[in-house]
Amino acid sequence: MANLWSGRFEKGMDEIVEKFNASITFDKRLYECDIRGSIAHAKMLAQQGIITAEECEDIVRGLGEIKEKIDRGDFEFSTKNEDIHMSVESALIEALGETGKKLHTARSRNDQVQVDMRLYTKEEINELREDLVFLENVLLDKAEQYADKITIGFTHMQHAQPVTIGFHLMAYFQMFKRDLERLDDCWMRMDYCPLGACALAGTTMPIDRFATAYELGFFAPTENAMDSVSDRDYVIELLSAASISMMHISRFAEECVLWNSSEFSYIAIDDSFCTGSSIMPQKKNPDMAELLRGKVGRVYGDLMQMLTVMKGTPLAYNKDFQEDKEGMFDAVDTWKDSLVILAKMIEKTEFRMDKIAEQLGKGFLNATDIAEHLAKQGVPFREAHNIVGNMVKMCENRGCDFEDLTDEELASIDSRISSDMLGDISIKACVDARVSYGGTAPSEVRRQIASGREWLERAAEAE
Ligand code: ARG
Repeated sequence: MANLWSGRFEKGMDEIVEKFNASITFDKRLYECDIRGSIAHAKMLAQQGIITAEECEDIVRGLGEIKEKIDRGDFEFSTKNEDIHMSVESALIEALGETGKKLHTARSRNDQVQVDMRLYTKEEINELREDLVFLENVLLDKAEQYADKITIGFTHMQHAQPVTIGFHLMAYFQMFKRDLERLDDCWMRMDYCPLGACALAGTTMPIDRFATAYELGFFAPTENAMDSVSDRDYVIELLSAASISMMHISRFAEECVLWNSSEFSYIAIDDSFCTGSSIMPQKKNPDMAELLRGKVGRVYGDLMQMLTVMKGTPLAYNKDFQEDKEGMFDAVDTWKDSLVILAKMIEKTEFRMDKIAEQLGKGFLNATDIAEHLAKQGVPFREAHNIVGNMVKMCENRGCDFEDLTDEELASIDSRISSDMLGDISIKACVDARVSYGGTAPSEVRRQIASGREWLERAAEAE
């Protein structure tokens, strides 16, 4: 059978060309969106008197039957029909004859594919939001559980200052919060319906683009027909949001691998998220965390691919754009799975406070606090910094802690200091005192959790 566009052709496609050209093997995933778009289009055509009400009814029923057939897995897809648009339309024509041929009035595959991809993107944004909300809830609960449990804060992978575990977890909460907001930004810019842009320049038919836009749940129709069929910036935007979020996931996953190592042992990842070794019987490997760390690579790849596909393409539609789909599907699937795996892994993870306690005394975690304490008593901070630096040097030489330095030794560093000037330098006191807005004190972490919960409730409602 000749295909839907073959009127001006004398020869059919070469077999290998047919395969190379076709997108049906992957864009069949868009069938529900495609059919939804077609139904809205048919209704508008009837409303505008371009087709009759009976024709519209037949088309809507026919499309419904095709959808059910695909749902059931009874629909036979073939590269003969190139893509999802031609597959559905051919099946409709087969079912309805003449009437089926009227559906493609005032429409092109160029605007059709954009409708499908935008409807698909909106559905996925909703699911991604749900997964992010789930992860954020897990983080809030864990942060609450560990709001006053103290661990080591690192910079340059060196002991820096004591922090609460709740505080560390809330840092990730903030990152994923922005990831969710990025999805909402993306939605806001892409919420315009391209249907009726046609091939590139609109149509002479008396269509109503506002009607189809509203019927399909878009904010409005797109403003310029040529832009509507030419750009894929919303795909790139979603892939960027995915890449950034996967980077966050990857960093969290790396910390889990590190904390789970025998050198750290701050956490023991649950058995159900680990695998064993085929040769070393003792091994329990944190494979899920490693996979989460590694999956980011393919998502960056999807983003780079799409940026490169779009670069230098002239307006309006080019077949290059068909390359937008596989990367988008892959990135979204990977991101969704990663969010859920990470959330479930964190949910089951407990911190080993005994192991952390063994490390808390090392690395002079309270050095900054002593300097700040001296500064509060009038010693200029730079001098206080220098004094405590000398105290560290002395402790290292003697192999002792700050508490072990005698008043004599302290006086030999600087005549202004003595042990009673150092204040309470216990690690707990240092953490409790960091009450500055956004600081690590348990009271402040609890404030962050409360404000996080408030935000999350609103975000979840907005779904
Ligand atoms: N399968 C095509 C794509 O995904 C649909 C649009 C085809 N348009 C065309 N003029 N060949 O981009």
